[in-house]
Amino acid sequence: MTSSVALQNEPTPITACTVARDVQNFDLLIEDMETELGESWGDLNFVDAAAYLKQPDAHELEFIAIAVDGNDEDNLHGIGDLIARAKEIDVKVILIAEDVSPIALHQLLKLGADDFAPYPLPEGALHDAIQRIRKPKAEPAPVPVSDEEGGDAPKKHVSTGKMGELDGVILPVHGLAGGAGASTFAVNLAWELANVEKKDNPKVCLVDLDFQFGSASTYLDLDRRENVYEMLSDIETMDDDAFKATVQQFNDCLDVLTAPNDMLPLDLLGPEEIEKLVRTAQRNYDYVVIDMPSTLVQWTETVLGMAHVYFGLLELDMRSAQNTLRLIRALKAEDLPYEKIRYVLNRAPKFTDMSGKSRARRMAESLDIDIELHMPDGGKPVAQACDHGLPIAETAAKNPLRKEIVKLAKSLHEVNADEAAG
Ligand SMILES: Nc1ncnc2c1ncn2[C@@H]1O[C@H](COP(=O)(O)OP(=O)(O)O)[C@@H](O)[C@H]1O
Ligand SMILES: [Mg+2]
Repeated sequence: MTSSVALQNEPTPITACTVARDVQNFDLLIEDMETELGESWGDLNFVDAAAYLKQPDAHELEFIAIAVDGNDEDNLHGIGDLIARAKEIDVKVILIAEDVSPIALHQLLKLGADDFAPYPLPEGALHDAIQRIRKPKAEPAPVPVSDEEGGDAPKKHVSTGKMGELDGVILPVHGLAGGAGASTFAVNLAWELANVEKKDNPKVCLVDLDFQFGSASTYLDLDRRENVYEMLSDIETMDDDAFKATVQQFNDCLDVLTAPNDMLPLDLLGPEEIEKLVRTAQRNYDYVVIDMPSTLVQWTETVLGMAHVYFGLLELDMRSAQNTLRLIRALKAEDLPYEKIRYVLNRAPKFTDMSGKSRARRMAESLDIDIELHMPDGGKPVAQACDHGLPIAETAAKNPLRKEIVKLAKSLHEVNADEAAG
């Protein structure tokens, strides 16, 4: 083994080891390892690491840091075997990846790497990863309700069903052009649904699946917590309790699964995992509002398939029109249920704006779609509510946009209640 010399002859015991094709490609990792561990670490290439991990000495390691880049993708098998072997002998694995495709990254994480950091390493990332693997696996936090209200008191927003046995209405919101207003719509629709009744409100969960630019946490002033990533990267073992421990409560009546703290590749989760995530939410809530990324991803069709109503938000401009056309074509080409999309025109022309209204009509005709919902421009107060991290209801209850969203929430709830009643 090329680097075994360093490993075996060091006077200081070796407690960790980098594993890379050539660790010199990861000089920031070398620096950080020195900062964290002084001299008590070594480095190995993949071949030598495979041999070393079979030796009794290897049991002494606390962790290995496997650094991979795009050129290692052909060797995923070999790297997977290393991770498996490390797990066998109870050595933790931190994965450090540069330019690795989301699919490859996902596979490696699934094989059981304990932690992950992107390369170039952000300030403190290795330190944090080491701290995390040193912590014993966190027990799922208690369900927030007992913190708030003490004991087993029922949630304020009681609905007829028990959590875990519900069959929620799935309402994804997809912006057909960036800034079209999808997140604002999703956040405020979720809020209005959660307050649609005078008492016994339905249970509502807002799920932010825009793993990169998700803004639900900003619009409701919630933390972006580390545990979101932890849950998303291990959907396989996620259960109802883990889900409920990961959502945050907003003002006692709306649960929110925010986007993770770090920007993650949208393909970190595959269709099956997204399905499990959404089903879990569905079992535990009456309404699941999903803020979708604008980009089409593998699992867009999964969510489209599961949706009761799939809102497509657009504006009265060329960009929205062309994107909508492209989206419909893409969905048709794949034989996907494009007709499930219900179009919402945001910043729609006012009632009195005749020319605006005729432009909207022409746009719908030329796209061969129905634009069923018109959301008015709510002006500055809308952006201000977003910036303050509050639903519009809390800062500008009379705002025209809010009024329309309330109407929509009521009608959705009525339809749903009627259907439930038979
Ligand atoms: N109908 C509206 N009236 C006024 N401002 C709006 C309206 N819809 C969205 N906005 C504002 O536009 C900006 C972008 O909205 P956002 O919901 O984040 O878009 P998206 O999620 O589609 O990218 C936000 O500042 C929001 O407050
Ligand atoms: Mg958004």
